[in-house]
Amino acid sequence: MLLRTQPRLRESEVTDKSLWLDRRRFLALGAAAASAWPALAGAGPLPGLIRSPYRIDEAATPLKDVTHYNNFYEFGTDKSDPAQMAPSFFGAVPKPWMVTVSGECAKPGTVSYDDLIKPHKLEERIYRLRCVEAWSMVIPWVGVPLADVLKRFEPNSKAKYVEFTTLVDPERFPGQRRGTLDWPYVEGLRLDEAMHPLTLLAVGLYGEELLPQNGAPIRLVVPWKYGFKSIKSIVGIRFGETPARTTWMKSAPREYGFYANVNPQVDHPRWSQGKERRIGEFLKRDTLAFNGYADQVAGLYSGMDLAVNY
Ligand code: MTE
Repeated sequence: MLLRTQPRLRESEVTDKSLWLDRRRFLALGAAAASAWPALAGAGPLPGLIRSPYRIDEAATPLKDVTHYNNFYEFGTDKSDPAQMAPSFFGAVPKPWMVTVSGECAKPGTVSYDDLIKPHKLEERIYRLRCVEAWSMVIPWVGVPLADVLKRFEPNSKAKYVEFTTLVDPERFPGQRRGTLDWPYVEGLRLDEAMHPLTLLAVGLYGEELLPQNGAPIRLVVPWKYGFKSIKSIVGIRFGETPARTTWMKSAPREYGFYANVNPQVDHPRWSQGKERRIGEFLKRDTLAFNGYADQVAGLYSGMDLAVNY
């Protein structure tokens, strides 16, 4: 109740880069939210990170771009909408973030953010993120291997796929007041993809907790797939026998497939996939098969026609 009467952050306070770096000032602004909902305080430090060996040797995209050039339709369809609308995420009554794990597993249940994440050591990994719109970034993510989390729920022999669901809350997500997409945003992976060591359940970036525009407090990062697979603000995880009907497959089935592996050989109807623009750079660069992770993941798809299974 108290938080409903708190003033919302002004846009100027949210878009000022120094704000992200000046933690004390930020926490003072969001003090009530910080104590009631630690995972959503925003820009809180994540101490004790393990330096994972999964780090590409390329310059990381500036924090300002990572937090201000976003695709997150729950906040709106423009790249600048998520950062601008992010304060609405703090505006609602706080509660612990809960994630429901269901379906083909021995130990289904609803667990809090702390119960889901805190048993694991946080790693920092530097990955490429390649969007189907032919731009890319390099992001130092913080998270835990998804496999370690999923195993605790003991998927059974019928579990062949995993489905992920984003929160539905039009009060926090103004974009959900419009029918741009069929809410909730749903994504899915085959179980072996979900269990692959590269697949990360991210809770932060640049050493700090995720901000709303990047999918606070928990999102997926699947670095060899187009960015739309990396679903944000997850509240549901379900083990199933069949693949999820994902949001983008429902919205435009000829444009978006279930696999969505980065593939310079197969163009999207509206965007050539052979090259990409790294955000902050002028010249385009070649897109790499599986976004540069072919050595680790190509074997998952042996015998499959990736032009058919796009
Ligand atoms: N998750 C949800 N729930 N809603 C979205 O609109 N956009 C996807 C993905 N996850 C999206 C989402 C797309 S298209 C991309 S490219 C990435 O998030 C962008 O992640 P970033 O903004 O953190 O770079």
